[in-house]
Amino acid sequence: MERTLIITGASSGIGRAVALALAGWDGLLLLSGRSGERLGETLAALEAAGGHGAVQVCDLRESGDIETLIKTAEARAPLHGLVHCGGAAEFAPADEQPPETWAAQIELNLVAAYHLTHHALKIMLPRQRGHIIYINSVAGRQPFPASSAYVAAKHGLRGLADAVREEGRPKGIKVTTIYPGATDTPWWNHQPGKAPAERMLSADHVAQTVAFALSLSGPAVVEELVVRHVRGDF
Ligand SMILES: NC(=O)c1ccc[n+]([C@@H]2O[C@H](COP(=O)([O-])OP(=O)(O)OC[C@H]3O[C@@H](n4cnc5c(N)ncnc54)[C@H](OP(=O)(O)O)[C@@H]3O)[C@@H](O)[C@H]2O)c1
Repeated sequence: MERTLIITGASSGIGRAVALALAGWDGLLLLSGRSGERLGETLAALEAAGGHGAVQVCDLRESGDIETLIKTAEARAPLHGLVHCGGAAEFAPADEQPPETWAAQIELNLVAAYHLTHHALKIMLPRQRGHIIYINSVAGRQPFPASSAYVAAKHGLRGLADAVREEGRPKGIKVTTIYPGATDTPWWNHQPGKAPAERMLSADHVAQTVAFALSLSGPAVVEELVVRHVRGDF
């Protein structure tokens, strides 16, 4: 393998679908998340589909884990890129949400993305090559009720990506943000109420957009891509 691509959140949902959609990718996919067991399941499915991968357990709340993740990828083969899918939300109105869970969502969905970006850029900028793909959300572009922490984190992630794109331009660093609408993944098992699966994208729909962004060669970059169900948000 002559290059590596890190996928965070690869133990479930969109991240797992991204790994499988990239089974034909020419390089090693480093699959990351907290659950070694579920990452192993993704790896088995990837290998059954003809892909090459490895597992690196990483808790995105631990900056040391994130640094180790990036260094492990680079030690295996030159780091080509990063698809950041890891995240979680705890939806509640702002007046009901305890400060601790509000702040924890900013740490997980925004600050962790900064740590990943920081360590990846230290490798990519001197090499003048690299691609960072952030899985954001339509909540990074518009507000939804009972989601102030998640909406704030995803708006912040949009700003982080946009600023890093400008910093990376002179060095040829590609930065892509994908904004999916509601997607049918285990994510919704942790949320109150029953979400209508028939009104959601599949994780594979989102994975296809990642594969497309990665497929553009030379100087072309997909900077932003919004993908949602044709009938819109619910
Ligand atoms: N589902 C949707 O409707 C939807 C829509 C738009 C955007 N998104 C975004 O898509 C991304 C993936 O969501 P999903 O729908 O695929 O959800 P999911 O099925 O619940 O998967 C979430 C992933 O994040 C990982 N993760 C959570 N906390 C982590 C932590 N502390 N450290 C490391 N990894 C952690 C989980 O791995 P472990 O449990 O193994 O740690 C899992 O692999 C999220 O950023 C979400 O904001 C989702």
